[in-house]
Amino acid sequence: MAQEDVFKKLVAHCKEYGFVFQSSEIYDGLSAVYDYAQMGVELKNNIKKYWWDSMVLLHENVVGIDSAIFMHPTIWKASGHVDAFNDPLIDNKDSKKRYRADVLIEDLMAKFEAKIDKEVEKAKKKFGESFDEEQFRATNPRVKANQEKMDAVHKRFVEALDKNDLEELKQIIIDNEIACPISGTKNWTDVRQFNLMFSTEMGSTADGSSKIYLRPETAQGIFVNYLNVQKTGRMKIPFGIAQIGKAFRNEIVARQFIFRMREFEQMELQFFVRPGEEMKWFEKWKETRMSWHKALGFSEDKYRFHDHDKLAHYANAATDVEFKFPFGFKEVEGIHSRTDFDLSQHQEFSGKKIQYFDPELNKSYVPYVVETSIGVDRMFLQVMSEAYTEEKIEKEDGKVDERVVLKLPAALAPIKLAVMPLTKKDGLPEKAREIINDLKFDFNCQYDEKDSIGKRYRRQDAIGTPFCVTVDHQSLEDNTVTIRYRDTMAQERVAIDKLYDIMKKEVSMKELFKKMK
Ligand code: GAP
Repeated sequence: MAQEDVFKKLVAHCKEYGFVFQSSEIYDGLSAVYDYAQMGVELKNNIKKYWWDSMVLLHENVVGIDSAIFMHPTIWKASGHVDAFNDPLIDNKDSKKRYRADVLIEDLMAKFEAKIDKEVEKAKKKFGESFDEEQFRATNPRVKANQEKMDAVHKRFVEALDKNDLEELKQIIIDNEIACPISGTKNWTDVRQFNLMFSTEMGSTADGSSKIYLRPETAQGIFVNYLNVQKTGRMKIPFGIAQIGKAFRNEIVARQFIFRMREFEQMELQFFVRPGEEMKWFEKWKETRMSWHKALGFSEDKYRFHDHDKLAHYANAATDVEFKFPFGFKEVEGIHSRTDFDLSQHQEFSGKKIQYFDPELNKSYVPYVVETSIGVDRMFLQVMSEAYTEEKIEKEDGKVDERVVLKLPAALAPIKLAVMPLTKKDGLPEKAREIINDLKFDFNCQYDEKDSIGKRYRRQDAIGTPFCVTVDHQSLEDNTVTIRYRDTMAQERVAIDKLYDIMKKEVSMKELFKKMK
């Protein structure tokens, strides 16, 4: 199935099974804003817990905070967001559609890359074991031609971004004959900068009120609390402050479902280090974060680092963790070495000294910062994309059945256990409730007595429940139940008093953390 179709099915599945709804749907929706539904919120909370515990529980030198969304407006002047948090926009005059010029160019480069990958895959199949990919890439004329075109666009693109040359960005679009996907024409306006911050008024009277911003990143809430946390927590460098919270950006190109939203959630860590030691910590956090992703057990080849072509105004090194979504490799997380830019700016704009006295060096300095920043919603989409599986099952009578199953890591699954009485009578529902009442303080359980057992299994497969337990007449006699495992569909008879131990081992985040470096 084409990846585009897989993605459409995934989006439909998210709605049908109560994971994600379009915001304000009964009013025809609000673009690029989404609500998490009854299953979605559980999965999202589990993702946040997986991140939070991996930072705050596993590192004795990392503490968490929860700062306000509204902050003093000067913070955004100091951070550079008022002047430089812009996207380069271009409009197609025929379709009247607005695009990000950099995204149009990146999409063009992705097309060259896809063509190259296709050639490589074809050759791999043709030559089998003896295939030498490196040599093929260096000699195949079609691959070389596409690589040269891509390199040429890439070089011009990086230079244009570096110089903030908007005319050159437009020229790259014209020279490469990039057309509007809607109108199909190349009738473009000039490229202009557009600030992404939402603003509102604080205060009750028009002239007594002041313009404030909805934060476009949670990081600044950490920077402005650096001194308070360092002093009250008696933190010694190196140490980190973690935060999970909402952020807002007036994104122009809102597409790919929850990948690019106007209201979204970030999980950010600012790690404060000695000046000169930032590269060591940058490498350390790159490794730690990648192992956090990989501990979930998804395919290794779905991850890669992508170093930034153009560094943000605050960074001296930056890389993205990219994941292969159904629409290609895209950024899930950014890891940045932010130097002392933010703290120095806040020191200057606030007039307050923001320094650390290092007893070992016997001197004071403004700490350097390594940041890891991941979007909760992108992580959610990553988990759902990898978990969504369509399977054909051969039945005993030779017929083929189909099932859609979310192969979620058990620790992230919204419901851990479904308990099903075989029938609605003979005391089976009461026995099922008894099991739930015993386990519900530790695990999210669901009771289900409607329809055939087969249908009930399918419903649980579709929401990713790792365990289903069936209570039958034998259960009343010997206190055993049938446990059915989601991925293998294997079933076994177990004692009811063993359920807690079986579940505990499988759904605990501890097992994931043990796999991390
Ligand atoms: N404090 C650094 C920072 O905000 P960023 O690369 O702009 O860096 C970090 O954002 C992460 O936030 C991204 O890797 C992505 O996962 C998430 N993110 C950014 N913009 C987003 C959007 N419009 N919708 C959903 N997630 C977004």
